[in-house]
Amino acid sequence: MQLDLVIRGGTVVTAGDSVVCDVGIRDGRVAALADRLPGAREEIDATGKLVMPGGVDAHCHIDEPAYRGVKVADDFASGTIAAACGGTTTILSFACQAKGETLRSVVEAHHKKAEGKAVIDYGFHLIVTDPHPGLLGQELPALIEDGYCSLKIFMTYDGYMLEDRQILETLDAARRHNALVMVHAENGHCIHWLSHGLTSEGRHGLENFTKAAPMAVEREATHRAIALAEIVGTEILIVHVSGREAVEQIRWAQARGHKVLAETCPQYLFTTENDIARPGWEGAKFACSPPPRDADNVPVLWRGLADGTFQVFSSDHCPYRADGPGKSHPTEAPRFDHIAVGVPGIETRLPLLFSAGCGGGRLTPQQFVALTATNPARIYGLYPRKGTIAVGGDADIAIWDPDRDVEIRHERLHDAAGYTPYEGMRVRGWPIQTLSRGVSLWRDGRVTAERGRGQFLRRRRPA
Ligand code: URP
Ligand code: ZN
Ligand code: ZN
Repeated sequence: MQLDLVIRGGTVVTAGDSVVCDVGIRDGRVAALADRLPGAREEIDATGKLVMPGGVDAHCHIDEPAYRGVKVADDFASGTIAAACGGTTTILSFACQAKGETLRSVVEAHHKKAEGKAVIDYGFHLIVTDPHPGLLGQELPALIEDGYCSLKIFMTYDGYMLEDRQILETLDAARRHNALVMVHAENGHCIHWLSHGLTSEGRHGLENFTKAAPMAVEREATHRAIALAEIVGTEILIVHVSGREAVEQIRWAQARGHKVLAETCPQYLFTTENDIARPGWEGAKFACSPPPRDADNVPVLWRGLADGTFQVFSSDHCPYRADGPGKSHPTEAPRFDHIAVGVPGIETRLPLLFSAGCGGGRLTPQQFVALTATNPARIYGLYPRKGTIAVGGDADIAIWDPDRDVEIRHERLHDAAGYTPYEGMRVRGWPIQTLSRGVSLWRDGRVTAERGRGQFLRRRRPA
């Protein structure tokens, strides 16, 4: 068998195992795994390195329409290059419906944004903001059939927030057509009421951001989302879980046998509410929804990652420019209720988790792969093409130097946000080469990715 490429002698890590072996690649797919493969047209010596499935980042905001007048900085070129340089080879981003728009037109617009730009493969979740009967009865089922088998709904944010009846109807449509509903679980009415109380007392500083969205707001919405899903009889996935009380709700549901999946993100492990309270505009760089909590919540999330409460670890990459509107202003002081909400993290997601998780003894390498690649691939209908290293699957592979010591600095990263919340943190372990369908995109600090080579992924969830 003539192979195009052999990755030789690395430790191949999957969600199930770690094995020293060669990986043979032909026509963009893994063609053989063996102790010793014959020579190929090209070889990579991976001795002493980890050969892992490329990451699947299931929660990224790329080239979305402006929210409250502010647009994210990354397009599909900068966003996917940054992903690849951090070891990620698949992203799922959002096609977000504005009220009055058809979902189909939104999806088509997002395809145009990605085509000619993306360097890795991508799919789209749908964001449903206007679940009228025509959308739920015809448009959504047709889109699910066409490979968009997941959607996100919001329990907060003006213009996005659904009421309980709408949530029930959306969950039911998703159940009937085998799509997964991702839920942003915060009670928007409570956030409004609390924000109004704070601003009417003249309390506008960023230290009030967390006060307007305390844990109870997330706990209540998490519980309600779980109850609504139970009533409909369907599975949900709670995204960007920030701390203990939401984790307790999820565990309670899982222990009762409800199909509740959950995701957390780097900003909840590596930043806290104190960062949002930093003086001036500095705090705005850390503001996201739900907000990071106090330091006591962090070990609870780590436990949840290790014990299976969380299945998915995503970036929630939402790259507003540090020097742009909502994150800075030359003369005005920031107001907690006017800032742009979201943080970048597509390139640092894997090194941060690997370093503190595997290096810190909190996760095994198998758990790391499961949380960052295999589970999201399974849950979102990409497995076994993506998310593992197995014969027949795409050769999406990140070769890691587990000992590489890196100080995170934005000048070394590739996204367009102009900052990282993790500036100055040191990590041990970084991908030194990333392959997508057998093609090298990033090697030893050099980007070689060809723009537009990324392919759209039609997804179907297992029955
Ligand atoms: O703060 C966040 N999470 N911004 C992105 C939008 C969202 O809710 O995921
Ligand atoms: Zn959200
Ligand atoms: Zn998000």
